[in-house]
Amino acid sequence: MEKLVSSWFSNKTLPQSYIFPPEARPGNLVIPRCNTIPVVDLSKALAHDRIVIVQQILKASQEYGFFQVVNHGVPENLVTDTMNVFKEFFELPAEDKAGIYSEDLKRPCRLYTSSSNYDHENVHLWRDNLRHPCHPLEDCIKIWPQKPTRYREIVATYSIEAKKLGLRILELLSEGLGLGSGFFGDKLSESLLLSVNHYPPCPDPSLTLGVSRHCDPNLLTILHQGDVYGLQVFKDGEWIGVEPLHNAFVVNIGHQLQIISNNKLKSAEHRAVTNSRVARTTVAFFINPSDDCVIEPDKSLIDTDESPAYKPFQFKEFLLNYSSLMGNPEKCLEPFELHA
Ligand code: OGA
Ligand code: NI
Repeated sequence: MEKLVSSWFSNKTLPQSYIFPPEARPGNLVIPRCNTIPVVDLSKALAHDRIVIVQQILKASQEYGFFQVVNHGVPENLVTDTMNVFKEFFELPAEDKAGIYSEDLKRPCRLYTSSSNYDHENVHLWRDNLRHPCHPLEDCIKIWPQKPTRYREIVATYSIEAKKLGLRILELLSEGLGLGSGFFGDKLSESLLLSVNHYPPCPDPSLTLGVSRHCDPNLLTILHQGDVYGLQVFKDGEWIGVEPLHNAFVVNIGHQLQIISNNKLKSAEHRAVTNSRVARTTVAFFINPSDDCVIEPDKSLIDTDESPAYKPFQFKEFLLNYSSLMGNPEKCLEPFELHA
């Protein structure tokens, strides 16, 4: 528990163990907060503009691997309540969180700090994280935090809405790719994981990272980043900031969608920087294939002049390799690549 950044950070200078080597530091924090990450109005997907929206989502997933969605159908007061309940969780007295704190990776519901490799990593991340599965809900909910008292009820509702939104976006993507309706249903999107990041204010944000550069190993991520800036995406050799938009979700393509689409969709590298003013709390809803689901490029997405870029594998093999490489974006696809 005492390792949690939120347990010790106040009024301290930045410990050496949180200082990244110069090439990995965010350094210049006045990175342009571009409005270049596409913003998609999902309400239009219900009407005659559906084809336009499908194309917008497809293009954003090809070019950026990232987009934001507005008018997404998730009630604003639910999002507010959910973000508040997470903030309250991190503000609970230590004794209320102690039962959930664990460095054992096998614990499905756990609070920990930095990465899953605290004891062996070169530099620690300036973040605490709470994560737990969300499916099947009736079973999972029993292992979720019991405090704040509203936690289970609110987060259950949120997870149902986030799943609905994720499946809706996957459906639009499968339409855009020319895959059948329901293509990403069942096993490809069976495992749902909620991951709450808490980044306390940091004494020197130019030297630290909240999350270092990575691509998400899953199928799709639905992120709510609250109203505090910190997310950056790597595009054309540059980091660009993702502006927090009111009542929007950030959506990003995970490694598995890149693989299934035979590299037509891109899982973009991203990271989170810290700030010295306020705590930042974000919630990532990860949609994953089930462990034994076989992943491979879909035949219909391999063009006639192409060959499959990846061999078939089980999702759990990917995860094992991903965690042993600590998500290193250069290396984590390598063992599964086929070279024509
Ligand atoms: C993640 C992630 C970014 C953020 O949790 O995988 O990329 O802004 N988070 O918290
Ligand atoms: Ni991520």
